[in-house]
Amino acid sequence: MKKDIRKAIIAGNWKMNKTRSEAKALIDEIIPLSQNADCQTVVCVPYTNLETAVQAVKGTNIKVGAQNVHFEENGAFTGEISVSMLKEIGVSYVIIGHSERRQYFGETDETVNKRTKTALAGGLIPIVCVGELLWERETGITEEVVSRQIKLAFFGISAADAAKVVIAYEPVWAIGTGKTATSEQAQEACKLIRDRLCTLYGKDIADSITIQYGGSMNAANAAELVAKEDVDGGLIGGASLKATDFGEIIKAASV
Ligand code: 13P
Repeated sequence: MKKDIRKAIIAGNWKMNKTRSEAKALIDEIIPLSQNADCQTVVCVPYTNLETAVQAVKGTNIKVGAQNVHFEENGAFTGEISVSMLKEIGVSYVIIGHSERRQYFGETDETVNKRTKTALAGGLIPIVCVGELLWERETGITEEVVSRQIKLAFFGISAADAAKVVIAYEPVWAIGTGKTATSEQAQEACKLIRDRLCTLYGKDIADSITIQYGGSMNAANAAELVAKEDVDGGLIGGASLKATDFGEIIKAASV
């Protein structure tokens, strides 16, 4: 991390876990662990927990995120949630283009771009996820895949708006598998992303953008990952569901 020029963010992606009462209990446990953090803590909870989470973090340094948002303001989109609905509740962040959305729900680079634009227009901070599949890494096209995802995600987005985006580099083969990218692999990919942002927006903007690592990040490996220059925190799945583990990761990012 380079905290002097950008914000370190530790975000929990709870995925489809926790009922409302469980969410409240977990956040109550996280609050004291985040109290003296020298990084931004975010909890990205299921839609049904958003209101509970926003209430629970009031007066603390923790922010709340959603896990998806639709790209239209309103209309006939059964089952979808709009930016203004999230803003009204007090949500600050939204995960966009998570690999599980891409894999199971037909998310494409085009819809990622549309959602990112709509989130920015409505004042939500997008956490845009990119990352290669295992066979893409094995066939040596990681650079190509990630560069393409970045280029398409940012298509038509101004420099001023790009500066507000958070990126999560999540190699798909490391998600939920217990197989973490080495800190060198994470650094290499995050640096590649920053270089692409530099080409698109120039060095100052590229240097200011938070790029997280995600994929089996845990209490034991977080310190080594976030020590890398271009790894500005993490997007954490499994380990964000246990307060003590999540607290250790927050601590590692606060050094
Ligand atoms: P895990 O930390 O469970 O591997 O999940 C990572 C992730 O998908 C975060 O968005």
